[in-house]
Amino acid sequence: MKPVQKAYLGAVVVLFLAAIPAFAHAFDLTYDLRVLIFLILLLLNSNHQVRVGRDIFSINFPLLFPILAFYGPAWGMILAALGLVAKDELADPKIIFLFNRASMGLAAGASGAVFLWLGGVDSLVSALLAAAITYSAVNLGLFWGAKLLAGQNEGAFSSIWESVKTILPSFALAALFYYAYEFLDVFGVIGGYYVFVTIRSGALFGHLETNYRISLIKSILRAVYAKDQDLMQHLENVAHYSKKLAKRCGYPRWKLQLLDEASYFHDIGKLEISDLILKKPGRLTNDEYDEMKSHPEKGMRFLQEIPLPDTHRELVQNIALYHHERFDGGGYPHGLRGEEIPLEARIVAVADTWEAMTGTRNYREPMTTSEAIAELRRIKGTQLDPSLVDIFIDIVEKDYSLQSHPARPRVAAGMEENPKKGVY
Ligand SMILES: [Fe+2]
Repeated sequence: MKPVQKAYLGAVVVLFLAAIPAFAHAFDLTYDLRVLIFLILLLLNSNHQVRVGRDIFSINFPLLFPILAFYGPAWGMILAALGLVAKDELADPKIIFLFNRASMGLAAGASGAVFLWLGGVDSLVSALLAAAITYSAVNLGLFWGAKLLAGQNEGAFSSIWESVKTILPSFALAALFYYAYEFLDVFGVIGGYYVFVTIRSGALFGHLETNYRISLIKSILRAVYAKDQDLMQHLENVAHYSKKLAKRCGYPRWKLQLLDEASYFHDIGKLEISDLILKKPGRLTNDEYDEMKSHPEKGMRFLQEIPLPDTHRELVQNIALYHHERFDGGGYPHGLRGEEIPLEARIVAVADTWEAMTGTRNYREPMTTSEAIAELRRIKGTQLDPSLVDIFIDIVEKDYSLQSHPARPRVAAGMEENPKKGVY
């Protein structure tokens, strides 16, 4: 670390230490057991971040706000410094650890001071909005100060944008916690916090743990498939198309993310099928084809071993087990027909077929979009759910990302007879 960086980090820590007595003198610092309860809540929150998709949405400010409003900026800065510590930060170099504590404390203190300066609870809306903006700006400013001194400036703009996007939700949640505290004391804040965590994490449907498990399997799968670019691309595309189709066909919204993840696993049973069969260039013998057809059941057995709640288990397994069922009952492994086939499996079947026809492979050129659409029309009602096919064609016609590269000649003559078609 350059001396100038060290000096900067140290200066922020000193500024914080100097600000505590100044703030404590200027504002009230009466102790109350509630302060401790807030501290525990902040520590809990720092160590159980709420994931929203790929991002972590911080509710530090909303949780701190009742303290700022009811206990003043001095307590706010102390609790921010002590309470916003995640376990893995303990391993940071001391100066960075202290700098982080100091910058959180300063952000909270500044935000509390701005809140009071603008009229406090008497002008709650404007004062709170300004406090939320101040909190973000001070945090971001101190952090980027350190980064810029280290000569790093990539990502500055996007991180500012990320912060700007969280100001409004932060502001609204802070108000909620404020009223929860005003009317229900700490019980309101604790209850409100758990309701928030429950809703945002999806734990209401038993998702929280599950989503982690599923994304873990997905990462492992990516590693396993990394050697086979064709297959990886196929999985990415099938997941992408499945989600687009699901969105348009009235599939429950809360299941969309799960469907996206689960469609990655549709061919997971192929891990147990020999490469000699999977990558055989020519036609498969009957025995080999039978072996290939066992992949849905193998996949389902694999997925059965993963502890998932029933809502998830059903969806993930339905896709793995039934994605080769045909609408007319001629598919495998169970020969289900029509709506006996679970909706998610019918969706993935359409996406899988489309991808098999239009995806780029090493051993053949893709069909053009119009050829593939014609093929979908030919097999709708027999192989695929006709209403889903209609919706899918409509999506393809409007969405360029679903179209294959046009005007490339199709080499794979004889695909019609190739039993591997539609399996991959
Ligand atoms: Fe498959």
